[in-house]
Formats: sequence, structure tokens, C-alpha cells
Amino acid sequence: MYLKFQIKEAHIMKFGHFDDLNREYVIETPKTPYPWINYLGSEAFFGLISNTAGGYNFYKDARLRRITRYRYNNVPIDMGGRYFYINDNGTVWNPGWSPVKTELDAYECRHGMGYTIIKGKKNDLSAEVTFFVPNGYDGEVQQVVLKNEGSSAKTFKLFSFAEWCLWDAQDDCTNFQRNFSTGRVEVDGSVIYHKTEYRDRRNHYAFYSVNDEIDGYDTDRDSFIGLYNGFNNPEAVLAGKATDSFADGWSPIASHYKEITLAAGESKTLIFILGYVEMPVDQKFEADGKTINKVKAKAMIEKFDTPEKVAAGLADLKASWDKLLGILNVSTPDDKVDRMVNIWNQYQCMVTFNLSRSASYFESGIGRGMGFRDSNQDILGFVHQIPDRAKERIIDIASTQFPDGGCYHQYQPLTKKGNADIGGDFSDDPLWLILSVSAYIKETGDWSILDEMVPYDNDMSVAQTMLEHLKVSFYHIVNNLGPHGLPLAMRADWNDCINLSCYSDTPGESFQTYTNPKFKAEGGYSKVAESVMVATLFTYTGPNYVAILKHLGKDDEAAAAQAEIDKMKKNIMESAWDGDWFLRAYDANGEKMGSKECEEGQIFIEPQGFAIMSDVGKEQGADKKTLAAIDERLNTEFGLVLNNPAFTKYYIQYGEISTYPGGYKENAGIFTHNNAWIICAAAYAGEGDQAFKYYSEIAPAFTEETSDIHKTEPYVYGQMIGGKDAGSDIGRTGKNFGQGKNSWLTGTAAWNMVAISQYILGVQPDFDGLRIDPSIPSSWDGFTITRQYRGAEYKVTIKNPDHVCKGIKSVSVDGNAIEGNILPVFDGGVHNVEVVMG
Ligand code: GLC
Ligand code: GLC
Repeated sequence: MYLKFQIKEAHIMKFGHFDDLNREYVIETPKTPYPWINYLGSEAFFGLISNTAGGYNFYKDARLRRITRYRYNNVPIDMGGRYFYINDNGTVWNPGWSPVKTELDAYECRHGMGYTIIKGKKNDLSAEVTFFVPNGYDGEVQQVVLKNEGSSAKTFKLFSFAEWCLWDAQDDCTNFQRNFSTGRVEVDGSVIYHKTEYRDRRNHYAFYSVNDEIDGYDTDRDSFIGLYNGFNNPEAVLAGKATDSFADGWSPIASHYKEITLAAGESKTLIFILGYVEMPVDQKFEADGKTINKVKAKAMIEKFDTPEKVAAGLADLKASWDKLLGILNVSTPDDKVDRMVNIWNQYQCMVTFNLSRSASYFESGIGRGMGFRDSNQDILGFVHQIPDRAKERIIDIASTQFPDGGCYHQYQPLTKKGNADIGGDFSDDPLWLILSVSAYIKETGDWSILDEMVPYDNDMSVAQTMLEHLKVSFYHIVNNLGPHGLPLAMRADWNDCINLSCYSDTPGESFQTYTNPKFKAEGGYSKVAESVMVATLFTYTGPNYVAILKHLGKDDEAAAAQAEIDKMKKNIMESAWDGDWFLRAYDANGEKMGSKECEEGQIFIEPQGFAIMSDVGKEQGADKKTLAAIDERLNTEFGLVLNNPAFTKYYIQYGEISTYPGGYKENAGIFTHNNAWIICAAAYAGEGDQAFKYYSEIAPAFTEETSDIHKTEPYVYGQMIGGKDAGSDIGRTGKNFGQGKNSWLTGTAAWNMVAISQYILGVQPDFDGLRIDPSIPSSWDGFTITRQYRGAEYKVTIKNPDHVCKGIKSVSVDGNAIEGNILPVFDGGVHNVEVVMG
């Protein structure tokens, strides 16, 4: 149907393969269609690492404690990293191929759970580098194993390389009049210390060490590289000798130099550590008052100064991932599903929890704080793995709410305070809190979260219980309705680019925070523009609030809340049902958006899934009609586009959305986050085949075979895939259709985890226990799931003898038939569950 259709059918273009046993993606060529990265660290010290060893490190905050420098959007791509250079009698190469780009005789990169191994070989010399951040450790360990695989002795030179960032990544790339005069280092034996600003304002330094004697070093970038050279041809490496340069301002780096001789078959292991240290103010220096106190650094270096210690650290890291990934494990007829659910989707959810939207190859780490809506949705993906940290996160988020239920749209992770620059009045924000708190209770059974005293706007003197926060969230919607009784759209809803109040035609005015003079008197946003998406999100999340109230015996309040939900459903059917799907919004002029009557943008994805999942208009067949319309108008072989037809001109009244060329981002791109809502909805409606079709169109493991089209990593989701309209306005239809962007840090990870595990495979934590309700491809004979839940382990076997998509004939637990499909909560133990579909 679309241009690339035959291409997807006909060709296979992979750049590596999955090693499920080791939970690794094995990249077989350095020339991937985009840098394919991994994350190291999951507590305080982090690293991003590409398959050619590009990337950088930071401590806790990617902006304020950047340890090594990276060059975004550089030519060539992916410059800045932890580079090892080898000069083997004039042949200069890197184990990760880049930046020198000498053709290697062998190359492999293994991205695993929190570690990466890059191996290169040239002229019978092999170099294998293992990178990881050990548990509880503020540093990156880099173990280099060099082996002479030839038949005669070899002498060659090894250079390490790290370029220090002067701590604040924003300042580092803008404030040169100051920065070129502040850089300070110390060299002590084989350890190079970076101590810029340590004398005056900082209590932290970084270091780069190696566990062996060195033959030289460089700490000044221009001396090492040469002012007019690049990372690909550093002068010192080409000359085969370090210059022992000592940085005094300019750009401090750390490079160790060592000459190595290996007999035939001999190998040598070197352990480099890139570490970060904070010191109490009164212990910062040695007696001379200027030499830095190295006690902590030395202890860190000693912790991993032998291959045995490194192996133990790596084993410990792997054991912690065994534990995290052991909570939910499936075995289905499709190994791609298994590797997504058991490994990569869960891994991505954890990375998203750690990094939020801060640092990736598409997020510079100097921009955004944590999003209220984003972080609440992220909870859904990892609450089963680390419920305690999920609880803490939920409380942090709720603490930035206002007493009327509105919220700061973002908050800063270091201060945990709301971000006044971005402000509030995003209409969907409060509802996500109801969803995350519910998910936490459903997973843990820990109702006490509702009793936690949680401040408003971080002011503890006005704290109320979490339950009150849910109430103000719920009523924030109810109290802000427009002319059709639908929620006001405000600055934006989930779609940041539908700005029915903040539209503008002046460069530099933010679509989300700009106050249109037209609406100034009304409090900053239109009192006419309404969001159908928020209406359906309300009918979807609201019942959780009702269930919570009922559980607490607050029946009157529950009935009152239920009445609001019922009223909203009625209003939706009266004013927001377009005949075959749900409208998107009413704009500030009271005109319909997302209707057949519109010239462009007739159907939008966002309201549809939540409407279906809350049975809006079900008795009139709204669910099936909507699913049919989605399949016809939005589906493509690479996923569901956000809207159709794409906007081809600027509709000022809609805000940012039509600023994007059609086929990209919120203008008819395949926004994978909201694809999951339709996957869930199709599964909910019993259309297991349809749900699985949409799931497999976008799930990374399924995109692997078209990696040249998809471009980004085949093991993690990206935010966006080019839609069918990409390039159509310039006569290049199809060229970028199917092309992924913005990989790693996206709510897509959490929602697709929900879609596959809860809606398709049907293991749904609920308030009273684990519900089993699969909605699978009819071709499946069945599958098995192991799930740890509230202290017990459930071994669930699901049989599908009649090849249905959905429906349950019988459930037995430990050999005894039970009524219904909610598995009881046990006091520990292992329980065998058999479910027969039909
Ligand atoms: C980005 C934002 C998210 C928003 C989405 C749609 O992913 O992080 O908050 O919902 O775009 O605009
Ligand atoms: C832009 C992007 C959107 C993102 C928002 C906030 O509007 O299109 O995806 O959520 O910026 O950063």
C-alpha cells in the first residue's frame, strides 16, 4: 500500500543479533545506521556509551555534574568518548573503530544490562574493553585485555583518552572567555586528577587511573591532539609518544601512554577507572593546602585493581539484573516477544526511571527537568521491579502539585522543586497521578501510601494526605469544564503540541508557556477550548479513584465521583462522538478538531484508546467502529500515525502541531507512546490479533530486520518513527517513512510494557490480586508466565485449545478451580496456576 511495503517484505538488513542467553545485543559492525548506545550505572554515576565507545559520564545530574565532554550534533557524528588508541608500528587504530576509523580485521560490540564490551582486532593484535559502573560505585571501570594472537612478539603503544567537561555542561559549551583560563589538573603516578574550581567553589574532583606504571601522559588537549587535528589523528598518538603536557587552562584531558611488548599468544590486562569523588570541605586538601586529598580516590582505585575484582564486580552487577528481571518472565510462541518482555523492555523502563528525559543521544542533558506527566507514566513500567523507589518518586512528584490539583509541569531532580519557567496548566497532568498511585497499590497492596503527608508546592505547612492529592487531581478536571462539559484544554494536554490557547506566529514564543493576549483576562488560557483526550483519560483513570474510595469505605464520595465519570461519558457521546471515532478537541473558536468535517487532521489517535477502555459508547458499538477507523486511517506497517490526514499548512489555532512537516513528531508521525494505548484498547476489546499486529509493528525486536530503515537501536523504543506522510510535501514520499528517532528516553517504554504484559499477555495487578485476562493472537496455543507478586511466586500456564483471542473457561490455583480470574494473594510460596482460554 505504501512505498516501503515491498521493501519491508523483501529485505533483511541487520547490523547484529540478539544473544538472549546473555541478555546482550551483539553489534557486528561499527557502521550502524546511527550510534547505537547503552547506559552504564543506575544509581548516581552514569555513562552513555555508543557501539564505537562514544558518549560521556555524569554524576546524578547530566547538566550540573558533567564529568566528560561530548559534542552533540557533531560532524562526524558521535564525537567525544572514552577512546583507546593503539599505535602498532605505524598502524593506528581503536578497538571501537572510531574515531581513527582504520578498518579492523574483527569488531564486535556487546551491549548488556549495564555494561558494554567492545572488541577490535588488527594485525593479530586484539583489544577487548569491558565498560561498566559497578553497583554502589561512583566510577566507570574500563578493563582492557590486549592479546597478541600472532606467532611472533609484538611491541606497540597504547594511549587512553578522556576529555574533562568543566562540570556544568551548559556553561562548558558557552562560556569560553572564562573556561579557557580555569582548567586545573594534578598527575600522581598513573592517576590524572581533574580539579577545576576545586580550590574555590567545589568539593568534588574526578580522576582517571590505570593499575600499572605508565611511560607518559598528556593532560592538555591541544598538546595531545594538535590544534588543527581531530580525534581521528591525535599528534601524540601518530608520533607514538606522549608529550607529558600539563594543562593550565584551555581544555584539560586525561591520557595515559604505555609501551607494551607481548610475546606470541601473550595477553595483558589493564584496568582503567574514571571516577568521581566528593570531599568534606575541611578535608579537601593535604597539609600544603593545595594538593587534593586523594584518600577516597585511592580507595576507589584499589577496589578494582585486579581482574578478579573486576570479574566479581561484573558478576555482582549481573546478579542484580537477574533479580530485577526475575520478577516477570514469560515464554510465548514468539521469541521476539520474550526478549522484549524478559529483557529489553524492562531494561529500558529502568533506564527511563533513572534518566527521565535528561540524557540520551537526542536529549542533551542540559534541557529538561522531570515531567509531572512523564514521570508518573514511567512508574507503570517499573513499579514491579523497585516498588520502594517508585513510591518515593510518586511522593516527589505529588509534592509539586498545587492545592487546587493543578501541577507544575516539570520539576528539577536535584531540588525536587517545581520549575517555574515551564509553569503549569497542562490539562492532563493531575490525572496521571491517580494512575501512578493506583499502579503502586495494585502492585504492592500497600494502601499506606494514601496516608502519606504530601506537601503542595513543596510547602510542608500545607501538606495533606496523598488521598487528598488524588481528590484534588480528580476535581481539578471536574472543576475546569468547558461549554460542552468537556475538560478545558488549557496550555496543552498529553500532546504538547496541541496548544489551543498558546498559539503564536512570532519566533521564540513558546507554544506551551506563552500567554496569548487574547486569553490573558481569562487567566491565561481559553475557557472555550476543550480536550476530548483529557475527557477520555478522565473516564479511564477515574474508576481507580472510585475503587480506592470504596476500599476505604467512603461510599458517598465514591458515588459522587462515579456520577462525575458517568456524566463525562454522556457528555463525550453527546458532543465528542464523530460517528466513527471520537473528536480530538474543540478549539478556542468552538470549532471541532479531529472530525470528518475538518479539512486536515480528521482523526487523532489520543482520545480513542482511553474511550474504548472506559466503555464510552460501547452499547452503540463505538469501540469496534473506532478500532476499524484506526486500522483504516492510522495504521501503517511501521505503526499507527498520530493523526490523518497530516497537516500541510499552519493552523495557528492549533498551536505547535502543524509547525512540524507532515509525518514527523506530533504531526502524523508514528508517536509510539500513544500506539500503546491502541494496543491496550484493541486487546481490551477482545481483538487480540489486531492488538498484536500493532504491537509487532513498533516493538524494537521486530524492527531489527529493517534496521537500515529504522536506523535507531533495535533493542529499545524511540519516541517517534517517521509516518507515511513524511516527505510528501516535498515529493519525497516514503523516503523517511519507518525511520526511528529519539530513542531510549520515552514514555513508550512504560506503556508498551503495560500493553504487552498486562493487556496482551493479560497479567494485570489489581487492587485485590493478580488478574489474568489475556488477549492474544488466535494462532497461539498458549504461553507461560512466572510472576512474583506481593511476596509469592505464580507459575502460570495458559492454554488456548480453541484458538480464541480472549476469554477464559477455567482457572485453577494449586490444583483447585477458582471462581473468576483474580488470583488470590498468598503469604509467600510458589503457586501453580492453570488457565484455559475459550
Ligand atoms: C514528549 C513529552 C511528553 C508528551 C509527548 C507528546 O514525549 O515528553 O510529555 O506527552 O511528547 O507531545
Ligand atoms: C516539543 C515536542 C514534544 C515535546 C515538547 C516538550 O513540543 O514536539 O514532543 O514533548 O517539545 O519538550
